[in-house]
Amino acid sequence: MSPAEPSAASGAEHYFAGEPATPSRRREVVLHLPEGQLVLTTDRGVFSAGEVDVGTRYLLLDAPMPVLDQPLTIADIGCGYGPIALTLARRLPLARVIAVEVNRRARELCQSNADRAGLTNVEVVAPDEVDPHERFDAIYSNPPIRIGKVALHALLSEWLQRLHPSGFAVLVVQKHLGSDSLQAWLEGQGHRTVRLGSRLGFRLLEVRPHPTEEAFP
Ligand SMILES: C[S@@+](CC[C@H](N)C(=O)[O-])C[C@H]1O[C@@H](n2cnc3c(N)ncnc32)[C@H](O)[C@@H]1O
Repeated sequence: MSPAEPSAASGAEHYFAGEPATPSRRREVVLHLPEGQLVLTTDRGVFSAGEVDVGTRYLLLDAPMPVLDQPLTIADIGCGYGPIALTLARRLPLARVIAVEVNRRARELCQSNADRAGLTNVEVVAPDEVDPHERFDAIYSNPPIRIGKVALHALLSEWLQRLHPSGFAVLVVQKHLGSDSLQAWLEGQGHRTVRLGSRLGFRLLEVRPHPTEEAFP
């Protein structure tokens, strides 16, 4: 994996900035899915402000979804302005969807987008606001690959260890940003990792918890 060197000027500020320096300029994008559309407000200084990311839409179209009638706890790690978290919340009305994001501007957008869509089952939080005892039935994420390999591995290790033993994660990763080496690394960490699909330059990976990780009581 050899992520591009990030900087505000390169447009990659959103990967790192808790507080983007770029002046705000809000706009709307429409996420089209088979079950209907979601209108989402975006802004400068957040990921994929001009349109919903192709990889994100691929995940939403092709990722397996949990059983509908269960009160699950699901996380979206790096929720941005909310396309994944809000789609999950709409598809799974009994689920609690925890949308985790470092970028404050993106968190505010995700919350207001949830409010506008009438989705009351989304909790938008900064990473350090998540209860350390919280465990997830599923994680869906278009993870921040460009934070670099070391930071990405630390982030994935942190959140994957919070999966219930029967849980799973689905990640969408751009092939040219190192999806295959990431899959090999996950397997090396003891996570059974299956490539569910490959489309549009992205891989869809299903990751299972490390088998020795403790179940949360
Ligand atoms: C590839 S973007 C995906 C955004 C959104 N899920 C989407 O599909 O449009 C990854 C997101 O992760 C966020 N991020 C970066 N580092 C993070 C961290 N340590 N914890 C949580 N989110 C992080 C970035 O700000 C960015 O919004």
